[in-house]
Amino acid sequence: EKGTYPHYMLKEIDEQPAVIRKLLMAYQNEQGEIEIDADIRAAIDQSDRLYIIACGTSYHAGLVGKQMLESIAGVPTEVHIASEFSYNMPLLSKNPLFVFISQSGETADSRAVLVHVKKLGFRTLTLTNVPGSTLSREADHTLLLHAGPEIAVASTKAYTAQIAVLSILAVDIAEHNGMDIGFDFTKELSIVANAMEALVDQKDVLEQMARDYLTGTRNAFYIGRAVDYYVCLEAALKLKEISYVQAEGFAGGELKHGTIALIEKGTPVIALATQYHVNGSIRSNVKEVVSRGANACIISLEGLNEEGDSLVLPEVHDALTPLVSVVPMQLLAYYAALQRDCDVDKPRNLAKSVTVE
Ligand code: M6R
Repeated sequence: EKGTYPHYMLKEIDEQPAVIRKLLMAYQNEQGEIEIDADIRAAIDQSDRLYIIACGTSYHAGLVGKQMLESIAGVPTEVHIASEFSYNMPLLSKNPLFVFISQSGETADSRAVLVHVKKLGFRTLTLTNVPGSTLSREADHTLLLHAGPEIAVASTKAYTAQIAVLSILAVDIAEHNGMDIGFDFTKELSIVANAMEALVDQKDVLEQMARDYLTGTRNAFYIGRAVDYYVCLEAALKLKEISYVQAEGFAGGELKHGTIALIEKGTPVIALATQYHVNGSIRSNVKEVVSRGANACIISLEGLNEEGDSLVLPEVHDALTPLVSVVPMQLLAYYAALQRDCDVDKPRNLAKSVTVE
């Protein structure tokens, strides 16, 4: 039930800090250490490469997850859009493990890949929010997202739960292989939950930002580098599906290879700057678009922020920033859709779970 909330989407955005805290409880042992099912760990250890398969928002979570699995745990990982994988199958490694990410666990495109790779005899793991769903039943292993029912068509809390579970997976693998991850993960994930809470309390700021940048526009661009780029892809999808603004996420460095031709007076460009090593370069990209007339703003991480940034995200560990930086993006999409009189929870032409290929 949505209770006093006007829309499920807003309720689900607000639930994100609680979901992160719940996941921390669900995947901790009695000693307070991160622990996942030993069979799942063994399946990962025995594989030489993970192939993440997903669609839409879950695919975007997979992109962030790949980076975490590789940088935290040194596990080689590829991410594929399910509907492309079947027709354009990459050369597989000797012992692949297929990881399906699906909020609903019912997405037909992902299931088609599952059926196919099972026939080939490969091992499978599903990350889903729905226990007993098709993708969970048919895979060898399941990790649950514990996000609670997600009703709004636009996925929000499932995305952050997916990323959190992928980070838990990465940390579990790293620690059981004797690697020093270099930070106190459970502490940092609690800090993330607090940061999310602080952000969902800034609705007035985000409502105004939506007015300033998105209410009256036909198109919008989100730019970022490194992991911020992946969050920009998700930010653009959120805006597209519920506000019908044509939105794209771009890697900052790609602007000069074509996209910058689209920038004209007043074009909204929202830049994300949460990563130290690309902070300077994304800010130069913003200068480039501003000099061509863009209506640009910067959302930055505390510590990297500069005067004039429109929103400063509370400081969190740099491996976990997507969990926090996506929250204002979700709220921007929500308010833009409201201001444009769109049906936030049930956008046109879309279904919550896509059960046809
Ligand atoms: O249930 P799934 O996670 O498999 O769904 C995948 C996509 O259909 C889904 O994420 C879709 O892109 C959402 N509407 C995005 O908000």
